Order: sequence, then structure tokens, then C-alpha cells
Amino acid sequence: MKKYEAVRAILGNKLYVPPKYASAKAYAPTNIALCKYWGKRNQELNLPMTSSLSISLGSKGATTELMVSTHAHDLVFLNNHPVDLTTSFGRRLIEFLDLFRAHGMPRFIVNIESNIPIAAGLASSACGFAALAIVLDQLFDWELPEYQLSILARLGSGSASRSIWQGFVEWHAGFRADGMDSFAEPISESWPELCIGLLIVSEKEKMISSRDAMQRTVTTSPLYSAWPSKVSRDLSLVKQAISVQDFSLLGRTAESNAMTMHATMLSAWPTISYMLPETLLAMQKIWQLRRDGLSLYFTQDAGPNLKLLFLKQDADIISQEFAGVDVLQPFLE
Ligand code: PMV
Repeated sequence: MKKYEAVRAILGNKLYVPPKYASAKAYAPTNIALCKYWGKRNQELNLPMTSSLSISLGSKGATTELMVSTHAHDLVFLNNHPVDLTTSFGRRLIEFLDLFRAHGMPRFIVNIESNIPIAAGLASSACGFAALAIVLDQLFDWELPEYQLSILARLGSGSASRSIWQGFVEWHAGFRADGMDSFAEPISESWPELCIGLLIVSEKEKMISSRDAMQRTVTTSPLYSAWPSKVSRDLSLVKQAISVQDFSLLGRTAESNAMTMHATMLSAWPTISYMLPETLLAMQKIWQLRRDGLSLYFTQDAGPNLKLLFLKQDADIISQEFAGVDVLQPFLE
């Protein structure tokens, strides 16, 4: 099945109805996975090998405005700067919009405002595609249920399926070949004291996209076969930690899950490593602080920067230890 066929399966005849409004605007938060999505069972539809679980970052995300345009081409602005539509970011965005444009549908002016530190290697595509799915729904007045918005966002980027909601979110891998059972859903638990610290250790560009890195890992890593069972154990541990608010269990599980994901990449060929010397130094500092009694953990995605996990009571000491760390309280943002 192709992406446009999945879109047609969801929208049916609505696909041929022009926009109801001249413009619309929507926000979506970015999210950090505590139990990661790593590896696809279907590349075209971004269907994952396993389920995953994340936390959305409140007011850190993207606001996207779509305006119906009379121009012959789309115009895209990111934080008021024109986006070159020949770059991979520009192309992915236009390809996504094209999925929803039957013959004769208008071009758009797209204004994206993102308040995520660009260098943080934070899932900016996650909030970007989620905000686009929501704003398209508003502009065309489709009134789709959220689980279908999650499916549409997934077609842009897998992790975007989780950015439709705030709080803890689980993305169900699903079994179906058409992916109609592969969407995210919120977990109705709140944890106001939970903090995430964005620790930028390097602003260098990432060397390989998560898309290519995942695929290389799945096809060449001898350790990848251990990943699905690790995820299924970690998913139930993270859910248990959330339901009884056991922070140490949450932190241990999230850190171990991230390290295992990176271990699958290290054993891929050619080897993939998102760790820079600064990343390892920060990890060693975290492990030392933990040996000294601080309840501090981290997770790491497809980039060199770390996301620290800790409770509010330790926020001051963590800000002192890690100069420049950006401390967020996702449930209070
Ligand atoms: O959605 P993508 O293609 O950007 O992949 C995201 C992969 C990780 O961030 C490393 C893990 C995750 O679950 O978000």
C-alpha cells in the first residue's frame, strides 16, 4: 500500500472537497520516547516493528499555519525564514501536503513557528508533522477522530503519531498491513513533579538520518533480534512505573532502553554511533552523580544530545551541575 492509498482509505470522498477556510493554525508538542521506536516493518507507511511510549513536552513544539494561496507553488517559512524546498526537510513537507491534494487543489503558504532548540536534535519532525495533520483537518473541516490524525501524522514521520497528544502517549505497533491499527493513544496519568532536562552537548549536524539508521540497523545488526523482546519488557515496566509513580523504575527502564537501542546501532555495519566524546563525558557524569545518591537518569535519541530525567526536588542541583540545561516540567508547561 502506498501513502496516498492510506490517506484515501481514511478520507474517502472528503479528499475531493476543497478547503472550508482560507487559513487555519494548530499546535503540536514534541515528544521524547521513554521506550523507543527503532525499526520499521513497513518503510513506506512508517509502520514500526514494536510499540513505543513517550512523553510530550507541553509548550515545546511547533505551531503551523496553513493559508490557501493563489501562487503556483507552495511557500514555506520556518520561524519567518523561507525554507528551500529542494532540501530534504522542504521536500518531505511538500510530499506530505501533496498526499492531501487531489487534482486542482490549491497551493499553500505554510508558516511554521518552532520553539524547539534546533540544535537539540529533538524530534522536530514529530511535532511538525503532527501539527500539519491537525491543521489540515481544521482547514478542510474533516473532523477526523484523533486516532486517525495520529495515523496521518505517522505517514510524515513515525514519532509524529505520538505528538497528537500531551502527557504520556503509547503508539501501538499494530499488525495490519495497511497500518490502520498502528496509531498512538494517550495514557491518562499525570506526573507533575517529573522533569526533563534538555542537555545540548554538541550543535554538530547529525551524521545519518534516523530513517537510514533504523533501516541499516534492522538489516545488518546481529543484536536487532533481541530488540522486540526488550521493548515489550520495557513497555510494561514503564507503564508500571507511571501507574505507581516509581521514578527510579521509570529512569532505569528508560535509560536502559535507550542504551540498548544505541547498542543495536553500534553493532550495525557500517557502525552507527550518535555518541560524541561530549555525550560520553555527560553520561559518565550522570553515572557518577547517581553513585553519589542523585536520582538522575537520561535518554538519548538519534543525535548526540541527552535528555535528563529527574524529579522537581532535584532541579536546582541539576541546573548547577549541568550549565545551560533547559529544565521542563511537561505536565505543568
Ligand atoms: O520518527 P523518526 O523517524 O524521526 O524516528 C524517531 C526515532 C527515535 O527518536 C530515535 C525514537 C523515538 O521513538 O522517538
